[in-house]
Amino acid sequence: MKLENKTIIVTGSGRGIGRYIAKRLGREGANIVVTARTEEDLEKTCNEINDEGGNAIFIKGDVTREDDVKNVVNNTIKKFGKVDVLVNNAGAGLRKYLWETKAEEFEEIMDVNVKGVFFYMKHVIPEMESHGGLIINISSGAGKAGIPTLSVYCASKFAVIGLTEAAAGEVGRIVKIVALCPASVDTGMFKRLFPEEKADLKPEEVAQKVADICVHSEMYNSGQSIELY
Ligand SMILES: NC(=O)c1ccc[n+]([C@@H]2O[C@H](COP(=O)([O-])OP(=O)(O)OC[C@H]3O[C@@H](n4cnc5c(N)ncnc54)[C@H](OP(=O)(O)O)[C@@H]3O)[C@@H](O)[C@H]2O)c1
Repeated sequence: MKLENKTIIVTGSGRGIGRYIAKRLGREGANIVVTARTEEDLEKTCNEINDEGGNAIFIKGDVTREDDVKNVVNNTIKKFGKVDVLVNNAGAGLRKYLWETKAEEFEEIMDVNVKGVFFYMKHVIPEMESHGGLIINISSGAGKAGIPTLSVYCASKFAVIGLTEAAAGEVGRIVKIVALCPASVDTGMFKRLFPEEKADLKPEEVAQKVADICVHSEMYNSGQSIELY
């Protein structure tokens, strides 16, 4: 168990990649805070971790609401004393031609994928600066190259890399911030957007990479984008 005594918040961990990340990190002995909007998903992930001998709690919250984010961070500190690792995984997808995209759709993607990452970094960094920490922002291969029909999603994932690089230069050296950019992953989001295609990665592979980054964070530079194909 390589992450004993570490406390880790995983956003969007009720299902999809986040659920696998939370379970994988739970097996390394970390205290896990599972968070998203759907309570029954959160309860399920949390029970799965605890049934395997892990230590997880869930706190319901919407990443687009600053008060919810503050509540998750404050209650994590109340329960476990600190936040060592934040995995900003919650995300929303959209596959549409740019000119068919409604303003509300643009706003929703930007709110979840960019504002959510911003709020969590904003409220976790001051907490981490007293004792150190690691932030892993889940961007995407779509954050490295523009993909037709994913223009707004790509814009949001490029923005995650911008937030990562800029904030990494703002924080003290004891807080490391990286972006992880996976190729397509076999989850509900991928199946909904690309029902006719096969994904490149399994969610377990992304979870393994996140665990490797947590355990061997010295191998990565702050501000770095780590590609996973
Ligand atoms: N699947 C892929 O091919 C792929 C590839 C590269 C990167 N990614 C990225 O990986 C991350 C996870 O994707 P996924 O495929 O696992 O998606 P998913 O299966 O749709 O799961 C998304 C998770 O995010 C949560 N979420 C969505 N909106 C939220 C909000 N406003 N507040 C809090 N939680 C919210 C969802 O829970 P609730 O709806 O209950 O809140 C759910 O737990 C995303 O950032 C995605 O962009 C995915």
